[in-house]
Amino acid sequence: MQSLTNRVILVTGAAKRIGRDIAIRLAREGASVAIHYNGSEAEARETSALCGFAPFFKANLEHVAEIERLFEDVTERFGRIDGLVNNAARYTRRDPLAITEADWDFIHSVNLKATFFCCQQGAKRMLGNPDGGRIVNISSLGGIRPWADHAHYCASKAGVIMLTRALATAFAPKVSVNSVAPGVIPFGPHDAEIDRLIAKTPAQRAGTGEEIADAVAYFLAASNFVTGQVLAVDGGLSQK
Ligand SMILES: NC(=O)c1ccc[n+]([C@@H]2O[C@H](COP(=O)([O-])OP(=O)(O)OC[C@H]3O[C@@H](n4cnc5c(N)ncnc54)[C@H](OP(=O)(O)O)[C@@H]3O)[C@@H](O)[C@H]2O)c1
Repeated sequence: MQSLTNRVILVTGAAKRIGRDIAIRLAREGASVAIHYNGSEAEARETSALCGFAPFFKANLEHVAEIERLFEDVTERFGRIDGLVNNAARYTRRDPLAITEADWDFIHSVNLKATFFCCQQGAKRMLGNPDGGRIVNISSLGGIRPWADHAHYCASKAGVIMLTRALATAFAPKVSVNSVAPGVIPFGPHDAEIDRLIAKTPAQRAGTGEEIADAVAYFLAASNFVTGQVLAVDGGLSQK
């Protein structure tokens, strides 16, 4: 395994919840973390403080021009980028018969389109590093299992999984691309859907952001012989 010490790693959507836990974990491993946020500036400041006052960068990832500026800003600040964690995403529940074009674009513009263009911007820089780089895409159990009221979300996350596999072949051998697929990782009060999923989970509990961060840290530190893989961290729910 490679050390993450002084590796420059950008985490998108890192102001709170899973993204914050990933950023904290990487900072503890000695990485130089770049914290991305969009609307949650106060939370991004808190994450920064928890990561040794790591710099934070605002961008609306719906727009490719903002993605390009984000990567330019991070590269200018640190001089390089060694790792990228595509964590930012949206989640909605909709009856497929009622989904509008706007509902579809709301999800896909961030979950799939932004993930692709962040991979592109990250890889353009990491392929120029003498020792390459690492990309980890956060997908979802919903990209593996079909959920009737989340067809649009499931399709976006299945897309993230295939992007991971296709880009792993495109960017090898210098840049590895892997995915972590979280199961149920609640942060607030549980609704009926969360309780129903936890009841079906073989581990008989929900997961934590720290458990997702463990898997992310593994892929970032692994050799380039580990690429194109999807690791479900879901208490076994994907096996049901
Ligand atoms: N929590 C779960 O149970 C679960 C389960 C399966 C998969 N996942 C996946 O794990 C990852 C993290 O989950 P989470 O629940 O912690 O996520 P989340 O809180 O729903 O979203 C993470 C961040 O994404 C950012 N984001 C959304 N739209 C954006 C945009 N247009 N431009 C820039 N940033 C944008 C937001 O940043 P700002 O707040 O700064 O605007 C938000 O804080 C996601 O990829 C999610 O799909 C989560």
